Parts: sequence; structure tokens; C-alpha cells
Amino acid sequence: MAMTNGNAAAHSTLPRAVWSRPFPSVLPGWRAKSGADCYHAWMAIGRVSQDDIQEAVEALRAGDLVAFPTETVYGLGANANNPEAVRKIFRLKGRPSTHPVIVHIDHPRYLQRWVRDMTPEAKKLADAFWPGPLTLVAKRAPAVNDVITGGQDTVAIRVPNHPIAQQLLNAFGGGIAAPSANRYGHVSPTRVEHVREEFGDELKYLLDGGDCKVGLESTIVSCVGDAPRILRPGSITLSQLQAVVPSIQSGPNPTSPRVPGTTSRHYSPVTQVNVVPSRRLETVVNEFTANSEKVAVLAMRPPTTTNSYMTWINAGIRPEIYARHLYVNLRTLDKAAGKIILVEELPEGERWDAIRDRIKRAATAENIVTYDQDIAAWVADFGDEGPA
Ligand code: TXA
Ligand code: MG
Repeated sequence: MAMTNGNAAAHSTLPRAVWSRPFPSVLPGWRAKSGADCYHAWMAIGRVSQDDIQEAVEALRAGDLVAFPTETVYGLGANANNPEAVRKIFRLKGRPSTHPVIVHIDHPRYLQRWVRDMTPEAKKLADAFWPGPLTLVAKRAPAVNDVITGGQDTVAIRVPNHPIAQQLLNAFGGGIAAPSANRYGHVSPTRVEHVREEFGDELKYLLDGGDCKVGLESTIVSCVGDAPRILRPGSITLSQLQAVVPSIQSGPNPTSPRVPGTTSRHYSPVTQVNVVPSRRLETVVNEFTANSEKVAVLAMRPPTTTNSYMTWINAGIRPEIYARHLYVNLRTLDKAAGKIILVEELPEGERWDAIRDRIKRAATAENIVTYDQDIAAWVADFGDEGPA
């Protein structure tokens, strides 16, 4: 398949709407977005041609895997109606078979194939945030295979808004099951090169959409059980969700569907990651470099001293930008670092929640350098997940 050097900046130069069609009523009570009775998609971007899309569609129909860009991270896709194809995802990633995968569709018109019950809250959230970086967990339709759901009675659904993902899904005409296109437990890919680094020749079909704009995996909201709950934080924040559904809760409770991808030690570089308070950064760097050990730092400010054993990335203080570059920065630092990656402790505030979540998982509990004795004792007793 032809590779592309797609560039996110190229998106803005393309015509916004090359086709449109009515937003149909797919479930009882479903409403079109106000003022958006037509649903728009863009034509092929950069060097992803219509032929490439067609080749990818044929590969999916033949039961092959296709990596494709979304606005969050790259996905490793398979025909969600073909259990044997979906099993290939698990084999290639090295992912345990009990971990369910998200089904991607281009439009809610396909929902009833996957979901048997969209609650009023789920409909409101879909209406407000789709297409976009939101995944909804709902009761699954009877035909959905166990390999998708990890044997649970729920299914996770997302309508991505990346134009290439939209084009692929539209041309395919069905659901694409796709986890992030990385080996199990590794850092998620936000560029097609990352996908190549992960799988090399083992993956034949890749669509290049340039850099992912969001850079963090979607916000997952469970809409089953007592109240809607955030199972995985993402770029859509709690207050944005609560503005649409005030009853939404942050974090799973014991009856929430399992989200195995939220186990600790996920999203990890190979090198050990430690979180360090800002005022201690240079001191901790010096402790390593004094022994001629290489250190890499992900900070929100420039360093106060230079040091030839140190690689320092200033990721800035804006959460959207920090998030967009987080995984590429972790990959860069992973290659640069000899001994350790030090991450400057992040600020409070919900706009940092998803980033804090991913950093926490990249570091293990023992790696978190903190001088707050209460927190240290709590982590020692319960681990970074807290008391059961
Ligand atoms: O942004 C994203 O969500 C990306 C792009 C490719 O869409 N996908 C992604 O997939 O991050 P993955 O497999 O890396 O993470 C999906 C998460 C996993 O933690 C999985 O356990 C959870 O979604 N999940 C999938 N189906 C579920 C279900 N039925 N109930 C609860 N959690 C589910
Ligand atoms: Mg993943």
C-alpha cells in the first residue's frame, strides 16, 4: 500500500464539505445536532488517495489489519464483524483476550447493529460530542461477538472525527474494531512512524494522516448502571460532559464495566519513568549525571543549568499542546535516556487530568518521587490505584 507523508496542517487547505447527507433518526428519540442536519466529511488528505482507501477497505474485507489515523491516536483496525480478523489484533499486539476493543463507526446510523439500549444520557453525549474523542460504553446488541466485548454484556463505540478515519469507515460501510496501534502496554502511536516502529513488517496496511491532533486516547464514559461514569479520562473533561449530562460521575465504581487498559503500568516507555516536583528537578538530574548516567527530562519549563548527560524537553504549560506531543516526547526521551526519564509534576486542574492519568500509568507507584509523607505512606499501603 502506498505510504503517505500526510501533514495535519494540510487539513485546513482542503474543502470542508465534499459530500453531505441527512443525519437520520437511527434510534427512537435520536435527534440530529441542532443546526447540523447535514453531516460533513472531507476528501482524502495529503497522499492518502482514494485508491489507498479502497485498498484498505479490501484488506479489511479480506480479514487483514489496517492501521489508520484518528484525532486521538492511531488505531489498529479489523472488520468488527469478523471474529478471526479481530483475533489478529490481539495476536499482533500481544493483548490479553479478555480486554475488549472499541468499535468505530462513521455515523450513529449504524448504532443499532452494535448497541441494544442507548440511554437518554448516552444519546445526549453522542449528540454533543460525536464525531469526536468520546467513547460510549452501552449494552451490546445480541450479534456482537465476545471477542469484541471481552465476554462482557457491554460494547464500547466511538465515531471518530479524523477525515481519513471517516473516509475509511464510510467506504468500508461497517464497524472497525480498533485498539491503539501499539504493542500491549506500550506508548500509543500519534504518527504513522510510531506504528511502523511498533510492528515493522508484521503490519502491511497503514494509512498516514500525519500527527494526531488530540494525542491522548478518547474519554470513555460508561452509560450502563446507576449513573454515567468516566472510565478513562481524555481530552473531553468532566465539566464539559457535566454541562450535557449533569449526573455524570468521575471514575469507575465496583459495578462499572472493566476497563483493562486502565490498569497501572500501561502507556509505558521502556525506560523507567519518575515523577519529580519542579523544584527538585535539577537536583535529581545531578544525582544521576554526577555518575555519568544519561537522564531525560519532560518538563514544563526550560532547565536552569545545562548538562551534557541530560536531554530536556520543555513541553510548555498548555495542556492541549502538552497532550498532543506527550507520546512523541515520551518516545523521543525513551531513545535518549540511558537510566531514567524524569517528568516534572503536573499542575492541578481537570484540564490536566487525562495527562496526569497517562503519566501516572507510565510510572509505577514506586517510581513516584514525592516528599509528601502522607501520600508516600498511602501509596506504600495501597499502590497507586488506592484502597480497593
Ligand atoms: O482514542 C481511542 O480510544 C483509541 C482510538 C484508536 O480510537 N483507541 C483506544 O483503544 O485507545 P484501546 O483498546 O487502546 O483502549 C480502549 C479501552 C480499553 O481500556 C478497553 O478495556 C476499553 O476501552 N473498553 C473497550 N470495550 C469496553 C467495554 N465494553 N467496557 C468497558 N471498557 C471497554
Ligand atoms: Mg491502548
